Amino acid sequence: MFEPSRRVAGGRAAERAVGVLLAVGNLKGGVGKSTLAVNLASAFAAAGWRTTLIDTDPQQTATRWSAQRLLPCRVATSPIRDLADAGAWAARAESIRREAEVVVVDLPSVAAPALGAACLMATGLLIPSGATQTDASTLQRTLHYVRTARRERRDKGPLAWIVPTRIVRTGFLRRRLELGTLPGLGEPATPPLTVDPSWDAAFAAGRWIGDCAPGSRAHKEFLAVFETVVGGLRARGVLPEPQALPTAPKATSAEPAAVPPASTADPQRSYVERVTRRRGAAAPLGRPVVAE
Ligand SMILES: Nc1ncnc2c1ncn2[C@@H]1O[C@H](COP(=O)(O)OP(=O)(O)OP(=O)(O)O)[C@@H](O)[C@H]1O
Ligand SMILES: [Mg+2]
Repeated sequence: MFEPSRRVAGGRAAERAVGVLLAVGNLKGGVGKSTLAVNLASAFAAAGWRTTLIDTDPQQTATRWSAQRLLPCRVATSPIRDLADAGAWAARAESIRREAEVVVVDLPSVAAPALGAACLMATGLLIPSGATQTDASTLQRTLHYVRTARRERRDKGPLAWIVPTRIVRTGFLRRRLELGTLPGLGEPATPPLTVDPSWDAAFAAGRWIGDCAPGSRAHKEFLAVFETVVGGLRARGVLPEPQALPTAPKATSAEPAAVPPASTADPQRSYVERVTRRRGAAAPLGRPVVAE
């Protein structure tokens, strides 16, 4: 049994034993898991949370995304190919989690052992999904792991969000998704991410959407998802205040920039403001990526 995150009661950061762990998974392939994971980790890092992205997919999409070291989060590559890998991975993830405020895990599709292990550890699971009937049936199979973890864990188990992805901009189904009322799934849906070429462009540029296309529709949609997740974590009392201010980039360095002391952080500035301000100069915000 893995130790879940402890609550940050009354803002006492000392009570936080391990960082928030957000897994991004769906047993279906090609739904936008890596895209969401890379951008989610980057948004947390850009807003000042000490964040590590763990790439568990043997395809290593997230690792390739970070190859130019232009993402503001750390990236650790730790592929899970089978059940034997899942145990070793869980131990490594726990160790990374002790050093980070937020850990985002990009899971491989199909690999149920990875999804099962992640659900036993995670603070929350984000499930990017299309809106077809085929998507809905795989969603139910994916949610089975969330519900099993909720039964097996001594705490409340993982939060879960369905993240509608690659949604066409008009139509009845999209409106229902926007209202979070896709029937029969029993879990909340975030606002949707509509079909947009900016996501692929961000991958090609090796940057996250807030750096590659700030203020774009894709960025705004993504911030609505980010805000929903941050709100859910805050409501559960597991997200500490970020301890680091967003820092100037050092894209050529392999070492992360020094983390300013907590007293320099401005608690009044919202995370969305921290994510959306900046890019005054041409450079991306945040610490350089460190592949481990
Ligand atoms: N909202 C979106 N609009 C348009 N294209 C998108 C969107 N989200 C993701 N994509 C594109 O869809 C493709 C698959 O995305 P991604 O690699 O993130 O999926 P995945 O679920 O991680 O796939 P795999 O199962 O292979 O790991 C990529 O080309 C990505 O750029
Ligand atoms: Mg992927």
